[in-house]
Amino acid sequence: MGRMGGIPHVACCHWRIRRLTLLEDLTPQPEDPILAMMDRFRNDPRADKIDLGIGIYRNSDGITPVMRAVKLAEHQLLNQQSSKSYTSLSGDPAFVHALATLVLSDKADLSCIAGAGTVGGTGAIRQGLDLIRLARPDATVHIPDPSWPNHKAIIQAVGLTCETYRYFDAQTGALDMEGLVCDLRDVPKDDVVLLHGCCHNPTGADPNSQRWGDIIQALQASGATVVIDFAYLGLGDGLDEDAAATRRILRDIPETIIAISCSKNFGLYRDRAGAVLVNAKTPEHAKIVQGNLSTLNRLAYSFPADHGAKVAEMILNDAELRAEWINELAEMRNRINDLRKTLANALLAQSNSERFALLGAPRGMFSRLNATPDQIKPLREDHGIYLIGDGRMNIAGLSLDDIPRLARAIATVCV
Ligand code: LMR
Repeated sequence: MGRMGGIPHVACCHWRIRRLTLLEDLTPQPEDPILAMMDRFRNDPRADKIDLGIGIYRNSDGITPVMRAVKLAEHQLLNQQSSKSYTSLSGDPAFVHALATLVLSDKADLSCIAGAGTVGGTGAIRQGLDLIRLARPDATVHIPDPSWPNHKAIIQAVGLTCETYRYFDAQTGALDMEGLVCDLRDVPKDDVVLLHGCCHNPTGADPNSQRWGDIIQALQASGATVVIDFAYLGLGDGLDEDAAATRRILRDIPETIIAISCSKNFGLYRDRAGAVLVNAKTPEHAKIVQGNLSTLNRLAYSFPADHGAKVAEMILNDAELRAEWINELAEMRNRINDLRKTLANALLAQSNSERFALLGAPRGMFSRLNATPDQIKPLREDHGIYLIGDGRMNIAGLSLDDIPRLARAIATVCV
C-alpha cells in the first residue's frame, strides 16, 4: 500500500495532485540585504574589490584578528577547563553578571536585573522580543527609521507588529531630533520602543548627552517599554561613555530590556556570545522574568553556547586580561575613527566641497552615504565597491590604502 496506507487510489491521486509534501508550501524568503551583499562580494573575482558591507572590524593587515586577550583567555581555558557539562538554561551566571556590571557599572544595584546568555546579540534581540510577546502578544515595536534590517524581520517573525519612528534626516546626514522626540512621545504606553544603545546601525548618528535627555523625557511621556540593542559597546567613544545613555534609561524608566552582543567588541563573531538583561520593577518580579528567560532558552536551544561566553567572562573578571582587552578595544576604536576622518578629508579634496563632511561625524563601525540605488550600483559594478543598498558603509572594514580610490569613485558617482 505504500505511504498512503488504506486511502483509495482515486483519493490518493487527487491528494497527490493538490499537494505533494508539506514543505512544498514554502515560498522563498526575502534576502537579508547585508548577507546578500556579503555573498556578492565573495563571488566577485576582482582582486581590488573593496568590502564595506557586513559589520566586521579589520586591522591594518586587512584581517579580523582574534583579539590578544581572547587568545590568552582561550589558552588558559584550554588548560583549566575540566568539564564541558551543561551550564544552566540561562547560561553561565558569572558571564551574565560580568556583562551586567560592564554595561550598568560595577556599582549598579543588580537586585532587579534578570539575565540570560543567548546565541549572540541576535539571539538576545530574539529572546527579548519573545519575552515581550509572552507578556503582550499584541504589542507594536517601534524601531528607528532606518534600523538594522534584521530588527523588523525578527519582530515580525515572533508575531509582533513593527512600526518606525523618525530618526535620521538623510538630506542633512544628521539626527532628525524634532521628528524623533515627537514620534517617541506619541508611542502608546502599551507599546515598545527599540533604541540603539550607541553607534547607531546603519547611520552611526548618535544623540549627544543633552539629546538623550530629550529622548528619555519623550519616553517617560509615552510610558512605553524600552528595548536597547547594545551591539557596539566600546566602539563609539569608550566603554563608560557608550554605556552612559543606557545607564540613564535604566535609572529613569521602570522596565528596560537590553540585548548585548560580544561579537564586535570582543571579536567573538562566530562564537555567538551575547546576553539579554531585563531591568524588572521589583526583585520579586525579576525572579519571574528570570524563569521566563530560562524557559525561552529551553524552547529555542536549551543551553546557550558557552565557549565565547566563558572567554568574555574570564577577560572581564581578570585584571590583566581586562586591561589588555580595553587597550585593544581602544586601538580598534581609534583606528575606525581615524579611517572615518581620513575618508572625509579625502572626499573633501576629491569633490572640492563640504557635501560629504558629515561622513566624518558618526560613531561606531558605520557611516551612511547619501546615495541612491542608481549610484550604489555603479559603485559596485564599475568600481568593485560594495556597500549596503541603503548607503551604509562599514568604515571598520576599510584599509587606508583603499581610501584614495574609494573617495575618487564616490566623488565621481555621487554627483
Ligand atoms: C551588521 O549589521 O553588519 C552586523 O550586525 C552583522 C549582521 O549580522 O547583520
